[in-house]
Amino acid sequence: MNVGIIGGGTMGSGIAQVAATAGCKVKLYDTNQAALDKAKAALEKILVRLIEKGRIDSEEKIRIQSNISYVDSLKALGDSHLTIEAIIENLDIKQKVFSELENYVADDCIIASNTSSLSIASIAASLNKPERCVGIHFFNPAPLMKLVEVIPAIQTSEAVLEKSIQTIKDWTKVVAVAKDTPGFIVNRVARPFYGEALRIYEEGLADFATIDHSLKTLGGFRMGPFELMDFIGNDVNYTVTETVFTAFYFDPRYKPSFTQKRFAEAGYLGRKSGKGYYDYTEGAIKPAP
Ligand code: NAI
Repeated sequence: MNVGIIGGGTMGSGIAQVAATAGCKVKLYDTNQAALDKAKAALEKILVRLIEKGRIDSEEKIRIQSNISYVDSLKALGDSHLTIEAIIENLDIKQKVFSELENYVADDCIIASNTSSLSIASIAASLNKPERCVGIHFFNPAPLMKLVEVIPAIQTSEAVLEKSIQTIKDWTKVVAVAKDTPGFIVNRVARPFYGEALRIYEEGLADFATIDHSLKTLGGFRMGPFELMDFIGNDVNYTVTETVFTAFYFDPRYKPSFTQKRFAEAGYLGRKSGKGYYDYTEGAIKPAP
């Protein structure tokens, strides 16, 4: 199967690894060459680590790497059977990319979005053949997270849904079919988790580290809410909250936090920028001032 991935950032590069490991021929496209270089270098590092852990051998590493090519034009995805878009979480930009992509791919190519919170129906509406559009939502990091939400829009055909589910299962993932509602399942449940943690901090009840420590120790969570927001990226996480809040007609349950907004505006994005609720710049993780 030929798979085209649009966007070679955190998610696109991870999804490319998943598909290539499953034996697909993958083309990873990004408008930013530096992102592609970074994705290629990151994959090399990951695969070396997997060899060290004894999970794969060097032949498998070569096989996975040779299954991925890095391309700088959308047109190059023309021979795809499935495309998965993982670019910036912005409806206008996604719609533009989707309507251009449709000029290059065959009529039976499935066009999927990895959006965290946007309506699949509105993305599908940018296509001449909206029935070929579906949400395929991976979690971060895509190679490690078992769950994938598959989201049919009201326009999605039954055949496209079935084929998408089967493909994701073939990639050894576990599928949850979710309705096309804001945040789907996991990101909706997660909004109050982050939101309430931010409110506890804003009310001065506890600092980031204490909240994280409590949730991990008593709640059994692998990461506390602030660690997780730093991992996801405060820019991405804030945008998802804003989208879900707006899409639910400003239901206060999903109200975004000024603290997170300011962190995103300041460039305190989390791990990817070296600083978020914690400071990652000097090797040791310590709460930011
Ligand atoms: P990212 O910022 O790491 O990567 C986005 C990439 O898209 C960048 O490399 C950028 O150069 C590229 N890009 C932007 N506009 C483009 C265009 N018009 N054509 C081609 N490439 C373009 O973002 P990330 O975190 O990978 O998120 C991507 C999508 O996946 C978003 O829709 C996000 O909501 C969703 N998502 C993010 C998760 C996360 O934990 N970060 C989890 C699940 C979904």
